[in-house]
Amino acid sequence: MSFELPSLPYANDALAPYMSAETLDFHHGKHHQTYVTNLNNLLKDHELQSSSLEDIVVKASKDASMAGIFNNAGQHWNHILFWQCMKPNGGGSIPSELEED
Ligand SMILES: [Fe+2]
Repeated sequence: MSFELPSLPYANDALAPYMSAETLDFHHGKHHQTYVTNLNNLLKDHELQSSSLEDIVVKASKDASMAGIFNNAGQHWNHILFWQCMKPNGGGSIPSELEED
């Protein structure tokens, strides 16, 4: 199994003016893509090649010889979460429970 760069869940200019289309293109199309490419290269003929992304992160975190796999798999996972945590016209007030100290 090889991993693929997921499509953004919104247009690349949907987060402007907070995050520009150029920033999203760089961060998604180059930065995130590099983690995916590196991870796929590191997993060629590797015992974790057919594992899920989550299993790769967990197993690689326990073996220092897999630090490169762990770093790239972790960054792939982190970026997937990052894209999903933002949306056009997002933000606004935080829940009142969180405003209390
Ligand atoms: Fe990034």
